[in-house]
Formats: sequence, C-alpha cells, structure tokens
Amino acid sequence: MKLAIGNDHVAVDMKKEIKEYLESKGYEVVDVGTNNTDRFNYPVSGYKVARMVADHEVDAGVLICGTGVGISLAANKVRGIRACVCSDPYTAKLSKQHNNTNIIAFGARVIGIETAKMIVDEWLNASYEGGRHQTRVDMIAEIEETQDLRAAHEE
Ligand code: RB5
Repeated sequence: MKLAIGNDHVAVDMKKEIKEYLESKGYEVVDVGTNNTDRFNYPVSGYKVARMVADHEVDAGVLICGTGVGISLAANKVRGIRACVCSDPYTAKLSKQHNNTNIIAFGARVIGIETAKMIVDEWLNASYEGGRHQTRVDMIAEIEETQDLRAAHEE
C-alpha cells in the first residue's frame, strides 16, 4: 500500500516518526512535507497530499500540523477528498468504516506519538462498510459537486 504524508513546520518530528513507523510496517510512504522548522504554510502539503490521493497516485494520505485542523481543511477543498482530524483511535477507525475517509489528520501539539501510531494503525486496518453509509457519503459528494443537496429541500 502506498501512502502520502505531509506536514508543516510544527510537525516535523512527528512526521518523521510516523513515516518511519509506517515504513517499518511495510507501507511505501511518499513524503511531500517539510523537513525543517522554518515557517511552512500547511495548505501546501495539505494540497499536495490531497492531490495525490484524488489522482490515485497513492492509496491514502496522512497529514500533520499543530492541530490537524488547517491542513485537513485545505485537503478537504480538493474534490473527492474526505479528510478527518482525529485525536483518538476510535474516531479514526469509525471515520474509515462509516465515512470512507481517504486522509487522516492529527495535531502534533495535541496528541503524543504513541496515540498517533494507534490512530494510523486503527485507520489503516479498518475497512469501509458501505451499505447504508454510502447514501450519506454520496450526499457529501453531491454537496461538493453542486453546492446544494436535493434531500435538504425535501425534508
Ligand atoms: C502553525 O502555527 C499552526 O497554525 C498550524 O500548525 C496548525 O495548527 C493549523 O491548523
């Protein structure tokens, strides 16, 4: 499985550790983030990882900034991306099973490295369940494509 990873200047150390951890588990990891602590605007790596996921150059993405918020917001602007900020493994797992997330994000200033490892493990080992969840994921895509949602007018 091939992954892309990205980060800003706040998350250099955590990115390096998570990249090594994923590689030790056999994942191929493409690093598009920064490797120094000079100010680095998180939308750049958020966009790069999102673009690679949306274009199927990689299977999934991992994003890390101070909180995980800014970098995931940037990624979510790319069509087809469902990026989720997680601070716990349970949310990470359910985000894959129910929401079919294709990027996981977290904050280097929010969680520690062991929690980050558990988050990526749970997320990468989970599978999308489809079924009733597909209706809702399709609705998210409809909002993205049309800036509207038919069902919202029918309620
Ligand atoms: C950088 O100071 C910080 O704003 C960034 O890492 C992230 O937390 C933004 O959401």
